[in-house]
Amino acid sequence: MGGSVKMVEETLKLAYGENSDLIKDKRIAAVQALSGTGACRLFADFQKRFSPDSQIYIPVPTWSNHHNIWRDAHVPQRTFHYYHPETKGLDFASLMDDIKNAPNGSFFLLHACAHNPTGVDPTEEQWKEISYQMKVKGHFAFFDMAYQGFASGDPERDAKSIRIFLEDGHLIGCAQSYAKNMGLYGQRIGCLSVVCEDEKQAVAVKSQLQQLARPMYSNPPVHGALIVSTILVSRKIHDLEYYSAIIGSLFSQGMADRIIGMRTTLRENLEKLGSPLSWEHITKQIGMFCYSGMTPEQVDRLTNEFHIYMTRNGRISMAGVTTGNVGYLANAIHEVTKSA
Ligand SMILES: Cc1ncc(COP(=O)(O)O)c(C=O)c1O
Repeated sequence: MGGSVKMVEETLKLAYGENSDLIKDKRIAAVQALSGTGACRLFADFQKRFSPDSQIYIPVPTWSNHHNIWRDAHVPQRTFHYYHPETKGLDFASLMDDIKNAPNGSFFLLHACAHNPTGVDPTEEQWKEISYQMKVKGHFAFFDMAYQGFASGDPERDAKSIRIFLEDGHLIGCAQSYAKNMGLYGQRIGCLSVVCEDEKQAVAVKSQLQQLARPMYSNPPVHGALIVSTILVSRKIHDLEYYSAIIGSLFSQGMADRIIGMRTTLRENLEKLGSPLSWEHITKQIGMFCYSGMTPEQVDRLTNEFHIYMTRNGRISMAGVTTGNVGYLANAIHEVTKSA
């Protein structure tokens, strides 16, 4: 039920660090999960079973499936401030207030990097303050890390938020996914981990996670897990050129750089067109999405008049923006926003 031991072992090193003491001390309970969604769901069910009266604090906005996952696990939901529509950045002050005002020992869902849908991540300093305050309050942080390596192109850098919490001695939970960074969406390969007090507790928690998995889906898939473990083990053979090439594309360095480049080009195009609005947030945000700030009505116009498609909250999938269409996109955005 726990899936590939090798894959889980290598996956933990990505999140917790190659030389993590937590791994050495066997303090992490971890199982292969059905990608990021399955990892979140397994955790939500675990939370309900072992902390039946608890709630989950979810950022506003968030990946919409988070709401469905915790709803179906019958965990009551609360929200915390995250995005500031006017600055199109982080509403840090309100976020900190919400952490302070939540009852001690609350569960908080955090996006480890490349927040979906906003592309707005706290800075390192802000993560430190969040971690500190959450420690003071005894909150439990559950990190959803669906885009490790996809934000900066460097998986280590993208795990910084988690590492800060670990340095502060938090016992965290973490959902990892290979859907985006390894392009394995259809294989449903991921991992759920929970940091425990000691090895004995980790053995018990892992056993309980497996018991939850058994009636739900029994076993996770083998094929994708073999792909992941083969690649992750091979990545340590640095002297082989062949593997270096794989590694170059592995954690989406090329993809991350391309997206960052498209952000710059889109912004430059809008500025060249003489847009009266500020588009600074396009290049400030990170990851696969750009939370453009366009209204549902403006998005409808893009769809109906220009055949450009995005979610009605104005979220652009930057992966779909190319050198071939960025000019057309900028023109269309300018058309629908210039009189705003
Ligand atoms: C924040 C977040 N969590 C989890 C997921 C789920 O990813 P997976 O395809 O691995 O289930 C996504 C994917 O869209 C996501 O954006």
